[in-house]
Amino acid sequence: MHSYLQIEDAKVVFDTKKGKFTALTGVNLHVQQGEFITLIGHSGCGKSTLLNLVAGLNEPTSGVLLLNNREIKGPGPDRGVVFQNHSLLPWLTCFDNIYLAVEKVFGDKESKKQLRERTFAALELVHLTHAADKRPSEISGGMKQRVGIARALAMEPKVLLMDEPFGALDALTRASLQDELMRIVEETQATTLMVTHDVDEAVLLSDRIVMMTNGPAATIGEVLKIDLPRPRDRLALAENPDYHHLRGQVLAFLYKKQHKSAA
Ligand SMILES: Nc1ncnc2c1ncn2[C@@H]1O[C@H](COP(=O)(O)OP(=O)(O)O)[C@@H](O)[C@H]1O
Ligand SMILES: [Mg+2]
Repeated sequence: MHSYLQIEDAKVVFDTKKGKFTALTGVNLHVQQGEFITLIGHSGCGKSTLLNLVAGLNEPTSGVLLLNNREIKGPGPDRGVVFQNHSLLPWLTCFDNIYLAVEKVFGDKESKKQLRERTFAALELVHLTHAADKRPSEISGGMKQRVGIARALAMEPKVLLMDEPFGALDALTRASLQDELMRIVEETQATTLMVTHDVDEAVLLSDRIVMMTNGPAATIGEVLKIDLPRPRDRLALAENPDYHHLRGQVLAFLYKKQHKSAA
């Protein structure tokens, strides 16, 4: 059976001043439609490099990536990307930041009224209708990330790609955005690939956690299936032994298996 997203034997070699640097090698991953995958691993292991391959921002040196049976050859509106630092345009309102992206994707086919409706729907999805006319400097870090997520989702991407989207936020804001993200993914059924280095975040959100070995020449070490029932509630999970067992497996991978080989 074909998977929705297929990464086949991907390798990434960068040319650097000191010569060639192999960041990733032998990366194989099949993702089903609607799956939520997190990529976890130590800093510098190649998580962003892998996500950028799927985004089409990097090309593999060898190997191939397929989305819906078509080779990924560059960025496209079928993949919405959210980075750690919101990357909103500071001179535009929240509404206009999203509208700009919506217009780029749907501008040829839809009326201004339809484009505005799409933009409002995206703001609504992240509960930010009230902030439509505010500029990024006038809202909190958590709200900026929500606008970034709304902008990505407004393009109705087949795949949502997020690179440590909550990494710069305080713990409480992060928790509420995780809850919001679970609700949004449930609503939109988006296939999601998210980079994190937070073990609890990975277990809470994922259908599968892809654990990467340390670089150079990093690859996928283990894949852990998270079969905790949904919807997931962080308070209930705190008392769930399965949750703690899964969490322990990720920690063991990161801090036992990886540190030995990194030394
Ligand atoms: N454009 C580039 N040129 C050279 N080396 C790079 C480039 N991008 C990333 N790297 C190197 O590849 C490795 C993986 O980087 P990255 O994917 O950013 O790691 P992570 O996101 O897991 O922290 C690192 O050693 C990094 O220095
Ligand atoms: Mg990174």
